[in-house]
Amino acid sequence: MPTLTIDGKQVTVKDGTSVFEAARQNAVEIPHFCYHPKLSIAGNCRMCLVDIEKMPKPAISCNTVATEGMVVHTQTEKVQELQKNVLEFILINHPIDCPVCDQAGECKLQKYYMDHTLTDSGFRETKVHKPKKVDLGPLVMLDDERCILCSRCVRFTDEITKTGELCIVNRGDRSTLTTFPGKQLDNKYSLNTVDICPVGALTSKPFRFQCRVWFLKSTPSICTGCSTGCNININHNDGKVHRYLPRENEAVNQCWSCDEGRLSYDFINEGRLDRPTIHQDEKTVSASAEDAVAEVVGALRRLAPEDVVFVGSAYESNENNAALKKLARELGIETVHYSAHETEDPYFDDFLIKADKNPNRAGVEKLGFQRFSGGTQTKLVVALEGLGKSDLERLKSDEPVLFVLLASNQSDSAEYADVLLPTATFAEQAGSFTNFQKRVQKFDKAFEPEGSVKPAWRWLAEIAKGLGKDWKGISEETLLEESFGLKREDLGETGKILE
Ligand code: SF4
Ligand code: SF4
Ligand code: FES
Repeated sequence: MPTLTIDGKQVTVKDGTSVFEAARQNAVEIPHFCYHPKLSIAGNCRMCLVDIEKMPKPAISCNTVATEGMVVHTQTEKVQELQKNVLEFILINHPIDCPVCDQAGECKLQKYYMDHTLTDSGFRETKVHKPKKVDLGPLVMLDDERCILCSRCVRFTDEITKTGELCIVNRGDRSTLTTFPGKQLDNKYSLNTVDICPVGALTSKPFRFQCRVWFLKSTPSICTGCSTGCNININHNDGKVHRYLPRENEAVNQCWSCDEGRLSYDFINEGRLDRPTIHQDEKTVSASAEDAVAEVVGALRRLAPEDVVFVGSAYESNENNAALKKLARELGIETVHYSAHETEDPYFDDFLIKADKNPNRAGVEKLGFQRFSGGTQTKLVVALEGLGKSDLERLKSDEPVLFVLLASNQSDSAEYADVLLPTATFAEQAGSFTNFQKRVQKFDKAFEPEGSVKPAWRWLAEIAKGLGKDWKGISEETLLEESFGLKREDLGETGKILE
């Protein structure tokens, strides 16, 4: 455990820690391009130079091991001059097309230029031109002129996915990033290369030119693509989701996410249910919120608990399912069921992607819900979110007199519903999911839902009120605490494992 001094501050780090990491762990930011905490050290960009006393010349901090008594300076005039020179070298052949570059606003090269240089280039020769629009694979586009050859993307495919599609060919200023002959950058995690590319060389085909990044707001959330529950930030603008980016949680997804999960946001933007409806006389008609709730309240008043089935959802939050359980308990309904999304022959691997495509199966199981199996011959079914294909078939064969669905999107279940209450997606409410590790992870509200759309628990609270129940003061916090014994603030940034 060496103790060293960085910019006058004494720090103690684990044996083998680099000077760069020692600085980072102690909130000293050293400019860098090629270093990435999850990849091997390449040491090729030379941007992370620091002065180390008793060393004859500045050293790259990412490839220098911290040793006892070392005295490091990250901000000397010499270091700053050298970093300025490194930037000038990198920019010699760079097209400087920031105004049309998707990375502008979140580009390390742009940022360091603003921080360190802000001078015109001294290069007066003709720049080397390279291909501007290279199709690397189904989701990733390369601009070779912007590539600074840091090799982060190459190391990602060599070391993380172990698919090894990428390489750097040719020498000197003719060097270019490319795929091996006959190969494409086509693996389940390819868009992570776009995240780790420090410049605008790699861009995401679904996101490029959709929105300038400075218009985007970012909300911490959880991916709903499978039961891993990768931590993400939802990037959105004006109530529209433009992208998910992975958010660091070492215990769940490290700093990665899969392509399918990160592109699974269309359902928030499209195909939404936006008003309550009631099916009457073979027709589906719009209804006011009051009338739709009154229809459900009337049925619940008329029927005995044994004639009613509540079906939660492994796709809905802990809080919405907890509200369903609360209402069931207050009505004397003993067993609550749950349905789940079903995927034929689901893909999974031993990295992040799970076969179970439901973000909250562990949550509904913790609530004690039983898998919906139909055959109940009930008169009223109240369900959250929608039923899986086979569950819906079972429900149809039971022919309930009234099927009430609280759901966010059009679906086969929504088509079959007699009363439809439009609900917020997870992006439009705060809540939590319990992942396959039984880790309860919270997500925040990114933006308000439109019109009469609201979280399922709020609809259930209105139904409870109509039945004369006292649900005053109910919130996401009280629902989580009542059913899971957890305070929302205790979940922290990385979640909490259920006991
Ligand atoms: S494309 Fe980006 S990540 Fe890959 S080598 Fe070039 S600059 Fe680095
Ligand atoms: S692994 Fe699962 S939770 Fe993670 S990004 Fe992919 S689909 Fe989403
Ligand atoms: S970050 Fe150290 S050489 Fe590139």
